[in-house]
Amino acid sequence: MPDRAIDALGRFARVVSDADAAHDVLALLADALFEHVCPDGVAVYVLEMDGKLRLSAERGVGPAANLEVDLDDVGTLAERVRAACGPSYVAHLNRPLVAGASLYGDVVMLRKDHEEPRLTLVDGLIDLAAVALSTAAHVELLERQFAELREQQEMLARSEKLRALGQMAAGVSHDLRNILNPLSLHLQVITRALDRGNVADAKESAVEMKAVLHRGLQTIERLRDFSRQSKETKSELVELDQLAQEAIAIGKARGASGGREATIREELAAPPQVMAVGSEIVSALVNLIVNAIDAMVEKGTAIVVRSGQDANTSWIEVSDDGPGMSAEVAERAFDPFFTTKGQDGTGLGLAMVYATMQRHGGNVTLETAPQQGTTIRLCFPVHGPLSGRAGIAPSRKS
Ligand SMILES: Nc1ncnc2c1ncn2[C@@H]1O[C@H](COP(=O)(O)OP(=O)(O)OP(=O)(O)O)[C@@H](O)[C@H]1O
Ligand SMILES: [Mg+2]
Repeated sequence: MPDRAIDALGRFARVVSDADAAHDVLALLADALFEHVCPDGVAVYVLEMDGKLRLSAERGVGPAANLEVDLDDVGTLAERVRAACGPSYVAHLNRPLVAGASLYGDVVMLRKDHEEPRLTLVDGLIDLAAVALSTAAHVELLERQFAELREQQEMLARSEKLRALGQMAAGVSHDLRNILNPLSLHLQVITRALDRGNVADAKESAVEMKAVLHRGLQTIERLRDFSRQSKETKSELVELDQLAQEAIAIGKARGASGGREATIREELAAPPQVMAVGSEIVSALVNLIVNAIDAMVEKGTAIVVRSGQDANTSWIEVSDDGPGMSAEVAERAFDPFFTTKGQDGTGLGLAMVYATMQRHGGNVTLETAPQQGTTIRLCFPVHGPLSGRAGIAPSRKS
C-alpha cells in the first residue's frame, strides 16, 4: 500500500477512535473517502432501529442522495443513488458497513469517470469505521442499560420508602386507636358516674385513664427514639463491656418489675473500644435483653450477653435459648411496628436497634430458628489499631 494511503488510514484511525456517536463516525468516514478515494461523490447510509437505511452524511452529491430504503432492498441502493444524482455519474462502488455479525449501514461512492478506485484504502477505511460503529453501539447499549438500572433503583427506593411510610402510618394509627378508644370509654364512665354522684367510680376510671395515657406517652417516647430525636448525640470512645453491664442491670430491673426474674450470664471479652453514643447502645441492648426475657416466659433457661472482636469489628450479642423465631417472624422482626405481643408490644424495639446501628456505621445480625433460641449481635467498626484481649473470657453467673 502506498505511503499516502497508510498515512490516510493512520489519521482516520486516530480521529475515528475519538468519536463516540455513530453519526460522527459516519461523517468522518464520508470526509475521508471524499478526500482520499472518491472526490466526485460519497453518500453514507445508516441502518436505523426501524429497519430502514437513511442518509447520514454525503459529500459532493447534494440532497439528491437523500433516499430511504428497506433493509431487504439494500442491494439496489447504489443504483438508485446514482440514478437520483444525475447522468454525470457514470460508475459507482458500494460497500456495506459490517462489524462482526452486525450490519450498521451502507456506503455508496459515485464516480464521473471509469477510473478504478484504490480498493485497499476503501476497504481499510470502511473496516475502521465499522469497528468504531460497533464500539459506539456497545457504549450506547451500556449507557441505555445503566440509565434503565438507575431508574429501576430509584423506583425501588421510592416504593421501599412508601412501604416503610405505610407501615409507620398503620402502626401509629393502630397505637392511637388503642389509646383513644379506652380513653373515650373511661370518659363516658366518668360522666355517668358523676351524673349519679358516684365519685369513687369516677376516680377509679380517672386512674385507669392515667395508665392509658402513660402507655400513649411511652409509645411517643419510643417513636421519638426511633426517629432519633434523642438529645444526646455525641459519640465517644466507649467500652462495650461497660455498656453491657449497665444494660443488664436495667434489663433485669425491667424483668423483675414485670414479675419475671431472669438469669443473665456475662461472657465479656473486653473487645477494643468503639466510637458510639453510649446511652443509645445501652438502650439497644436493653431492648434485646427485654425481648429475651419476654421470650423465656414461653421456654428457655438462660440469657447470655457476650462480647468479642473480629478483624475490624468489636461486637456484643444477646443470646437466649428460648423458643426462637419462625422464618416469617425473623423476616419481619426489624420492621417498625411488627410485634407478636399484641397490646404488650409496640414493635419498635428491634426497629430502633437497627436504626441505632445504622447511625453508628455498624450492623446487626440475627441468628434464630424455631426451638433453637435467638442470638442478635451488634457489630461496631473499630477505628485505629486493635487492642484488648481476643477470645472469650470464662463465663460467670451474675
Ligand atoms: N429473643 C427473641 N425471641 C423470640 N422472638 C423474638 C425475640 N426478640 C424479638 N422477637 C420477635 O420479634 C418481634 C419484634 O420485636 P421488637 O422488639 O421489635 O418488638 P416487641 O418486643 O414485640 O415490642 P416492644 O419492643 O415495643 O416491647 C417480637 O414481637 C417477637 O415476635
Ligand atoms: Mg421488644
